Amino acid sequence: MKDLYPSLSARGKALAANPARIDFDLFMEASQNLYDPVDNPKGAFPLNVAENTLSSPLIKDQLTSIIQKNEMPDWVLYYTGLLGHPDVKTEVARFMEQYLCKCPIPSETIGLSAGASAIIEISSFVLANPGDVVVIPAPSYPMYTKDLGLKSGVERYDLQSHYELQEIGSKAPVQTELLDQTWTALKAKGKCFKILLLTSPDNPTGCRYTEQQLRELADWCMQHQVHLIVNEIYGLSLIDTQAEEVQAEYGEEGKYISFAKIMEEAASDYLHLWYAFSKDFAMSGLRVGVVHSRNEAFITALGNVNVPHLVSNYTQWMLGEMLKDKDFIERYIIENKARLNRSYRLVVDVLKKMELPYIPSRGSLFVWADFSKYLKVDSAQGEENLWVDIYKNTGVLLTPGVGFQHQKKGLFRIVFTAVPLAYLEVAMERIRSYLLER
Ligand SMILES: Cc1ncc(COP(=O)(O)O)c(C=O)c1O
Repeated sequence: MKDLYPSLSARGKALAANPARIDFDLFMEASQNLYDPVDNPKGAFPLNVAENTLSSPLIKDQLTSIIQKNEMPDWVLYYTGLLGHPDVKTEVARFMEQYLCKCPIPSETIGLSAGASAIIEISSFVLANPGDVVVIPAPSYPMYTKDLGLKSGVERYDLQSHYELQEIGSKAPVQTELLDQTWTALKAKGKCFKILLLTSPDNPTGCRYTEQQLRELADWCMQHQVHLIVNEIYGLSLIDTQAEEVQAEYGEEGKYISFAKIMEEAASDYLHLWYAFSKDFAMSGLRVGVVHSRNEAFITALGNVNVPHLVSNYTQWMLGEMLKDKDFIERYIIENKARLNRSYRLVVDVLKKMELPYIPSRGSLFVWADFSKYLKVDSAQGEENLWVDIYKNTGVLLTPGVGFQHQKKGLFRIVFTAVPLAYLEVAMERIRSYLLER
């Protein structure tokens, strides 16, 4: 076969040939033709990328006011701590203690890196050897594959726990019996089950692990010397499951806590937490991810690999100032939640009318819905065709199911925070009327 990229390394060739995400080209196309009720009423709705544009104006105003009212400190221009400026780490730790984790977070147990993606990459680099396996309950965030594997050579194993969405209910997508089976199956293949990775609230399902579920999984992992990482990047993007309009969809809710609480009690080298300000704080472009772990050697090693991923000091400074303003943070969390919930309910109301199954979300920016009754062919190709068909005929770009690794075909993710509520209504109506006619 002709070498298309003779100037590149084997790794470079593979990177040049494979796009970072398969929906990127259509995303760029849709982004250049955005819907506007007056200027572009036939325009498109990119509902595929996990961004919270509902609350970004609140953050923009706050950061603008910080820049206008404060003088930039001198340290912004120089090198600083390998895992962040000490004062900013203190502010981040206090914020996590008070709002996300609700338990003590010593600042030496955290580190900052350029977004959750960088945290994921350096964590797998430091915790696992090439060829080791990260077990992730399916369906899950497609980019984990590259973030975990590209540089550290760690393999992703998608644990299938259900086929139909209705099977999930309020159960966790993974239980210890499944982990036992996976452990044995991987061992038989000579593979090392090194990390169990949970996302809570989950991308794309919106599932949340209860305190009891987390405790059981943490015990199992500590016994087997498997690292348990809980990614709480959507930890403050919560759906109000007790709201009158949706309450009936949720069974009895267990108690939820941050994984940090269990980490505090267990003080184990095998338990870790990831966070980022990208989603809850609508600032994916500012690139701030956080790792929290009580494993001192892990934190030290992360610092020594973090130099290419440091968060710019200017961003750190703005973030630190924003977090100091407790009134703003409290108002923001409440307002953001109200906005998320309005958009969430709009989407599920339409799905109900269309009689499309979905997982009632407990948090995140997504609804994970089953469009399989519209598949012409029940296959990966059939799924891709339906995804493109919906986009070409409605202008609404959903996140394709491929990469999430769910076994059933025809499931797509809807990012309900990607456009304002009024636009979301138009987008959902376009999908409903198109699929109904089809
Ligand atoms: C579960 C999960 N982890 C990590 C990321 C990446 O976050 P960041 O933009 O902070 O790198 C995302 C983004 O969609 C995500 O959904």
